[in-house]
Amino acid sequence: MDRSYQRIDVVEDLISTMTLEEKVGQMNQYTGFWDPTGPLPEGDEAIDKYEHLRSGLVGSMLNVIGAEETRSLQKIVVEESRLGIPLIFGYDVIHGLKTLSPIPLAEAASWDMEAIRKSAALAAREASAVGIHWTFAPMMDISRDARWGRVMEGAGEDPYLGSRVAAARVRGFQGEDLSAPNTIAACAKHFAAYGFAEAGRDYNTVDIGTVTLHNIALPPFKAAVDAGVATVMNGFNVLNGVPVTGDAYLQRDILKGRWGFDGFVVSDWASVGEMITHGFAADGADAAQKAVSAGCDMEMESRMFIRNLRQLVENGIVDEALLDDAVRRILTVKYNLGLFDDPYRYCDEQREANEVFAPAYREVVRDMARKSIVLLKNERNLLPLKQEGQRVAVIGPFIDDDSSPLGSWRKAADDHTAVTLKEGLMPYGNVEWIFEKGLDLLMEERVWTLETKINTTDRSSFPAAIDAAKSADVVLLAMGEHGFQSAEGRSRVNIELPGLQQELIEEILKVNQNVILLLHTGRPLDIVWASENVPAILLVWQLGTESGNAIADVVMGKYNPAGKLPMGFPRHVGQMPLYYNHYNTGRPVNTQNIEDFVFWSHYGDVENDALFPFGHGLSYTTFEYANLNVNASGDVIEIEVEVQNTGNVDGEEVIQLYIRDEVASVVRPVRELKAFDKVSIPAGESEVIQFSLPKASLGFYDGRGEYRFEPGFFQFMVGGSSDTALNTRLEVR
Ligand code: BGC
Repeated sequence: MDRSYQRIDVVEDLISTMTLEEKVGQMNQYTGFWDPTGPLPEGDEAIDKYEHLRSGLVGSMLNVIGAEETRSLQKIVVEESRLGIPLIFGYDVIHGLKTLSPIPLAEAASWDMEAIRKSAALAAREASAVGIHWTFAPMMDISRDARWGRVMEGAGEDPYLGSRVAAARVRGFQGEDLSAPNTIAACAKHFAAYGFAEAGRDYNTVDIGTVTLHNIALPPFKAAVDAGVATVMNGFNVLNGVPVTGDAYLQRDILKGRWGFDGFVVSDWASVGEMITHGFAADGADAAQKAVSAGCDMEMESRMFIRNLRQLVENGIVDEALLDDAVRRILTVKYNLGLFDDPYRYCDEQREANEVFAPAYREVVRDMARKSIVLLKNERNLLPLKQEGQRVAVIGPFIDDDSSPLGSWRKAADDHTAVTLKEGLMPYGNVEWIFEKGLDLLMEERVWTLETKINTTDRSSFPAAIDAAKSADVVLLAMGEHGFQSAEGRSRVNIELPGLQQELIEEILKVNQNVILLLHTGRPLDIVWASENVPAILLVWQLGTESGNAIADVVMGKYNPAGKLPMGFPRHVGQMPLYYNHYNTGRPVNTQNIEDFVFWSHYGDVENDALFPFGHGLSYTTFEYANLNVNASGDVIEIEVEVQNTGNVDGEEVIQLYIRDEVASVVRPVRELKAFDKVSIPAGESEVIQFSLPKASLGFYDGRGEYRFEPGFFQFMVGGSSDTALNTRLEVR
């Protein structure tokens, strides 16, 4: 029988037999019995979750993993509750389960959609082997503010790159068929605009105009819906005065209406209850009513639905049809996952034993890690290192750290499972390595309140590191931010190198000028001093399990780096928010050309633009661009450019196409990424790269969210970074 008919039968039959209480139960999600990922609601201890499972009052659980654990809870629901509707188990599988890929921001730097898809597919495979059906990923919040700790979890500042990455991740997690045993449901989060938290402070107010909402914040979500994402998570933030969890315009009109999203919406952790704290709902009943009416189908952990929804329907305040719609969506996703065929299909201890942290996965995450690395600067071609005949000092707090490179959001992964930098480099036995940490970044090992635990006093290991640097031909400095300094709840106003690292770099530079900074971070940092004084900088993020091997591949020249920044690096934290696709303003330059003429849009103490802009990234070779041709005679604009590898080694380049719509009814940015292509070009050779852009893709959303294309003059810019100068201007009708 056709599965879609069968599905409608199963789902509709169930809905017609469910009590009101059972419907509310499907809309209720509890965290497991350990390791919560947010504050537990008041009175949590008083709830007997087992009893609720038996009574059909729970539709989903999060933070439960393991074939045995998930089986035992599933068994209660399936065998003891009246209707036996299986649970859907959700978990934050953000960049892998135990075998970790780079943090998502780093992966985005690869601009390699197939690698990103594969990485998500691997995560799905491992997660499904421990009973997980559903990941709360990908996060696709665009952010322009490096102070916000959660930038590590997204794809950076650009809506086009963000949309491509969102779609690739959704396809990776969900595969072709959600009912396959090694695919899991994805969740596009956080709907919407959470990344625009004022001043980069997590959970803070968001107040952006509707043009920015439609053109910048929403496109990745639309791309995820078009890629078939099964679920969406709303968020904690207020958007223009309304908490997004209670925002009907976002959830009902746009997501479920205009975009036709047919999956379900889950709240963020306690975000329904927090509408009371926001001052948007009077009490729990009001919060539940507002969330359900706005289109929130399942509630994560504030108990407003379970405590109030039944009464609200019985009192005629909430229409039961809203519950039916929510339950239909939830049951449909469960059906699509194959849970009605076999609720235990993900609970297989044998598979768990074989497939978790399997050695066979390592090559996939190592490749993803190498592709994520960005070469920011390489004076005197200090990189790659010679494979022999050199004495190299490796200095810094991350040289033998086997946890921090795993990054944040890795709840299920074990500490101490990353390949360290030292382990990655040691196999190159013809280099004379000296390892000296020089300093410990942290006062304690694994701490959640990191800000107070950074080492700002202990310089006792400085002398040994300085001696090592003095005696070496080259110095590798492994410095940056700790893996737990970014992520949820980890905003910072100071994004310079934490602790004593700056001091140590300055000391090292005094004794050796051949320094290469290996920058470990989850966000763009203020590295202005290093950019002016350190000859080479390699951005190595937090690269996951294979970190040390991947860094060694690049440092030793086994792999030619090709990553490009998904988010610009600032000249100063005071520039935040900082983004390449800004408007021109009415006074973009000093037209008077008088040095102390101040009436133009600038700072008195720092340039406007990024230190390293969006799209920037070097290679061990060089590329030259020429012969840009644009033809706009038909419905499709054909763009052609010649790219030559002008260096001595083969290399890959991400060729980026930007446009500028010169005049429109809504002011358009000075540059917008519209397409890119990652190509491999042998040393000395040239390639002609072609892009075909449908004319309609030159359009934009107006303030009401209507998409429009307005004919007129456009500029087309192509190059290896968002600051490329190669430009052609053309009228498009
Ligand atoms: C985060 C979500 C996450 C949820 C469950 C919340 O605090 O904002 O992104 O999925 O917790 O862990």
